Amino acid sequence: VQTHTVQIGGKTILYHFNASIHAPEFLNDHRNKVLLTDTNVAQHLPERLRRMPCIAIPAGEKSKQQATADHIIGQMLEMGADKETLLVGIGGGVVTDLAGYVASIYMRGIAFGLVPTTLLAMVDAAIGGKNGVDLGQYKNLAGTIYQPDFIHFDYALTDTLPLDEWESGFAEIIKHACIADATLFAELQSKQLSDFRENKEALHALVKRNVLIKTSIVAEDEQGTGKRHLLNFGHTLGHPIELLCNLPHGHAVSIGMMLAAGISEEINGFSSAEKSALKTLLEKYGLPVSVDTDTKKLTELAIKDKKKSGDAIRFVLLRSIGDADVIKIPMQQLSDLIKTICC
Ligand SMILES: NC(=O)c1ccc[n+]([C@@H]2O[C@H](COP(=O)([O-])OP(=O)(O)OC[C@H]3O[C@@H](n4cnc5c(N)ncnc54)[C@H](O)[C@@H]3O)[C@@H](O)[C@H]2O)c1
Repeated sequence: VQTHTVQIGGKTILYHFNASIHAPEFLNDHRNKVLLTDTNVAQHLPERLRRMPCIAIPAGEKSKQQATADHIIGQMLEMGADKETLLVGIGGGVVTDLAGYVASIYMRGIAFGLVPTTLLAMVDAAIGGKNGVDLGQYKNLAGTIYQPDFIHFDYALTDTLPLDEWESGFAEIIKHACIADATLFAELQSKQLSDFRENKEALHALVKRNVLIKTSIVAEDEQGTGKRHLLNFGHTLGHPIELLCNLPHGHAVSIGMMLAAGISEEINGFSSAEKSALKTLLEKYGLPVSVDTDTKKLTELAIKDKKKSGDAIRFVLLRSIGDADVIKIPMQQLSDLIKTICC
């Protein structure tokens, strides 16, 4: 196990790379624990963990609602969880978001740790302390920023991950490359998904690199008033697409990145050659680059997004691969740009 200590917002967090949930020392601290997982992941947990107090929510984005958080809180009360209890979220981004959210509000805040089980949760959702639930059609509209004590990265967990969930994870990896790491972009161009799926050392290097990219951005701006906005590249339109078209998070973000690349080409000097390179890379990793959807509804939902400020929306645009800007775009202009790009 490789332990890496980071500081975010005054909190010390331990990252355990190459950890194993099968190892006897796993979760070997003396606190009372409650595990939170989903019904798919629960089937793959070792017997020893399944014997611990464990709450398994139905798998999928539909569970990321306040009603599920209320249910978890009720279950924790019944299990006798108190201020000293450690909540451990073992699952994809839905579980890690709910674990952080519930931990931050249960008895006004208890400690928690995370074991991300999807590639997307390893490289993105588990990192940075943002958590929350969706409110109807609006993604992540209620939540807090609350950091875990630890994150365990166990790559063996990805053995059961379906291919489309691997692809979904690569959308966030390609996002990191676009906003901050042109060398990673080139490396991804020279490889393919199976190079990482079939080789745990390559996967470890990739996960660690992405975890550290996101961590360094969040460590600079935990509350999201500045640099952290860059991580929303592809999300302002990706979020409404996710719920409108019922797509996996990363697939929707992939389409959102292509739309943002189109807007970047229109108003931020992003070259059409780099836009094509992005399209080719997304397709290489099995990701969709367009979708047939109601652009009016899409614009309406995007405008309700949290990135709105006054009558303009904060949008992440690329200048070149590895270099992004946060630009305020007036609503009417955004609506016109979406029409131009989608038609
Ligand atoms: N907080 C953040 O900063 C942040 C960042 C990015 C995404 N997110 C959120 O993360 C969520 C998406 O996360 P996700 O893509 O991990 O989705 P998810 O949690 O729904 O997991 C995807 C599917 O994979 C299954 N699964 C999980 N681990 C598995 C395993 N090891 N083997 C087999 N099946 C497994 C799950 O049961 C689920 O069906 C979204 O709600 C998104 O908003 C949050």
